Amino acid sequence: MISDKQLNQFINQLQEKQSRIMVVGLGYTGLPLAECIAKAGFKVIGYDTNISKVSMLVRGESYLETISADRVQELLDTGRFTVTSDISCQDPCDVYWVCVPTPLLNGAPALDSFCAAITSIKTIATKPFLVVISSTSFPGTTRTIGLSILEKETQEHGADFFLVFSPEREDPGNSTFTTKTLPRVFGALDNESSKVAMVLFNQLFDEVHQASSIEAAEASKLVENVYRAVNIALANEWDEICKGLNLDVWEIIELAATKPFGFQAFYPGPGVGGHCIPVDPYYLLSKLKSVGANAGLINLACDLNKKRPQMIVRKIESFLESRSKAIKGSNLLLIGLGYKKNISDLRESPAIEILDLLINLGCNLKWYDPLVASNHSQRDAQRELDLSPQLLKNQDLCVILADHDLIDWDMVLNYSSFILDTKNKFANCHSSII
Ligand SMILES: NC(=O)c1ccc[n+]([C@@H]2O[C@H](COP(=O)([O-])OP(=O)(O)OC[C@H]3O[C@@H](n4cnc5c(N)ncnc54)[C@H](O)[C@@H]3O)[C@@H](O)[C@H]2O)c1
Repeated sequence: MISDKQLNQFINQLQEKQSRIMVVGLGYTGLPLAECIAKAGFKVIGYDTNISKVSMLVRGESYLETISADRVQELLDTGRFTVTSDISCQDPCDVYWVCVPTPLLNGAPALDSFCAAITSIKTIATKPFLVVISSTSFPGTTRTIGLSILEKETQEHGADFFLVFSPEREDPGNSTFTTKTLPRVFGALDNESSKVAMVLFNQLFDEVHQASSIEAAEASKLVENVYRAVNIALANEWDEICKGLNLDVWEIIELAATKPFGFQAFYPGPGVGGHCIPVDPYYLLSKLKSVGANAGLINLACDLNKKRPQMIVRKIESFLESRSKAIKGSNLLLIGLGYKKNISDLRESPAIEILDLLINLGCNLKWYDPLVASNHSQRDAQRELDLSPQLLKNQDLCVILADHDLIDWDMVLNYSSFILDTKNKFANCHSSII
């Protein structure tokens, strides 16, 4: 059992910023978090199993469009940020902060990285230490899986370590909020964990909210993302409703959004993408299934979101049919493959599914996304590294799937014969928009 003296020492070390903090997983959430911790004056060790990412950071380069190379260099220049792909050569830290992926495999939660991260922490951790879990998962993951790995071969919890769950709210590309200014939620395993986490978090974040339990904090993250998934499904349904009623869905949502209370605008698009919205509801549903429960509305929203790329393909087919053109052999250009504006992340991007469906239908498919790494290829679709008037003119249809700022939209509008604008980039300003 940790004595009061040891607990106070741990807290003092945090207050004096003498604690060493390791961020495990330096992706979209982990890298900005490491930056936030270093800026607050702590020593941060970034650990990522991806050697090429680590090498880039060491060279002062960035692999995320949301963090510039200048920001990486500034972080290195603080002298408080080091990075490694080999945890075994690191001295023990006081805090380990887990930001590894929690994806789906065949529609079910895949917690391999999560388990591997906690197992690797155990190989170097010496007591006492704090583990903060920020990877999103179903309620119970931290206690039943994380804690049991930490406890294996060690003493009872609370004796050796402190444990909290604190969800990430990173919104890649959103410059209004930083990791520091975003309100932070956490739930702790016990009173001691709660005390040390509060001391640390108050130094890092402007606003901290403590949940009554770890599970409440885990569930709060799922509420946030399930809310988005359900509302996006609804916005896409409104797209179909408006088509049937011969109304402009974008106009009616904008009109509804003039109501200053009780309404948050969600907009139609090609479908849900990224590491959160298409994934997190399934984490919840898997947990519900394990306890014999169900959630009809969430299930329905997931089904609708899954079918959205097929609906976009159907729109393409019916447009071509209206021009007496077969989909097989048609010339199509997909513009923007990232799952959202100004983001190169292709994880779960609906654009990838649309591309695959169109390839299967025998289209002569090209794609253009200036944010996606130039060596990236996508099945049989031809990648275009530049837009040109000739390229646009040669297409039966150009399909806008992500409206990145970097794209020359004037050229797209001026030279495309027809455009399927799933992002309302051109707000029906031209007769070529379908
Ligand atoms: N991306 C977002 O906008 C966002 C927002 C909120 C929450 N989240 C959640 O945060 C978590 C991380 O997501 P992300 O988008 O930052 O993922 P990411 O894929 O961008 O980054 C994860 C990093 O972890 C590394 N990694 C994998 N296994 C590892 C291991 N065992 N040890 C060390 N490093 C390892 C990977 O190489 C990768 O660089 C997920 O649970 C996600 O659901 C993400």
